[in-house]
Amino acid sequence: MERLQKVIAASGITSRRKAEVMITEGRVSVNGIVVTELGYKVKKGDKVEVDGELIQKENKVYYVMNKPKKTMCTLDDEFDRRTVVSLIDCEERIFPVGRLDYDTSGVLILTNDGEFANMIIHPRYHLPKTYRVMINGILETESIKKMERGIELEDGMTLPAKVRVRKKDFNIKKTTFDLTIQEGRNHQVKRMCEYFGHEVTSLHRLSLGFLKVDDMSQGDYRLLKPQEVKDLRKQANEGKFEGKLEK
Ligand code: URA
Repeated sequence: MERLQKVIAASGITSRRKAEVMITEGRVSVNGIVVTELGYKVKKGDKVEVDGELIQKENKVYYVMNKPKKTMCTLDDEFDRRTVVSLIDCEERIFPVGRLDYDTSGVLILTNDGEFANMIIHPRYHLPKTYRVMINGILETESIKKMERGIELEDGMTLPAKVRVRKKDFNIKKTTFDLTIQEGRNHQVKRMCEYFGHEVTSLHRLSLGFLKVDDMSQGDYRLLKPQEVKDLRKQANEGKFEGKLEK
């Protein structure tokens, strides 16, 4: 017997957390009866429907892409802009794990495994994400220290981060640096830079956990090896209680 939200996530249509919302909204039925109880146990042979559509267990697939700029991390776009999912040739109903902005490039995982996606994006797991950031202006040493300690954004304090300055160009007043954060809030990097009055002019995710796309052109993607999926789970689990970044 498995919990209803887990069964829905296993079908690849959504994450477990979103499945919970669907259940409480009354969009889920088991054997024709609407179930709004979270944790309802599904038996073998039970028919689970979401919005009237029967769900089935899908094969799990995991891709890593070097997301190109000018692509959306939503499943479709009201302005018909290209989506990352449309770049991948596969039958499964995959979705991007977390969001990179339209103008952000770099490491992006796509999967139909809601459980796995949750481990990668949930802040509890502290999976480090490193961005190559280019900003207008010179990033002051004092700002770096504050950024590393944590700053108060409108949605709360950021967790400790790590900054490695690559280049300070005093002639054109631009700074390039690598920023490692442990969370993945909406527009977090841009908001952290705005906090100090800097506009981000270029943003590329260099790594997600140990995963990198240095050897891939923008728009390229590949299936993750089973061992890589295992290792990502392991890395996420190891960060679960610590929330520390290596110096
Ligand atoms: N932070 C941002 O501001 N944008 C991204 O795309 C990713 C992290």
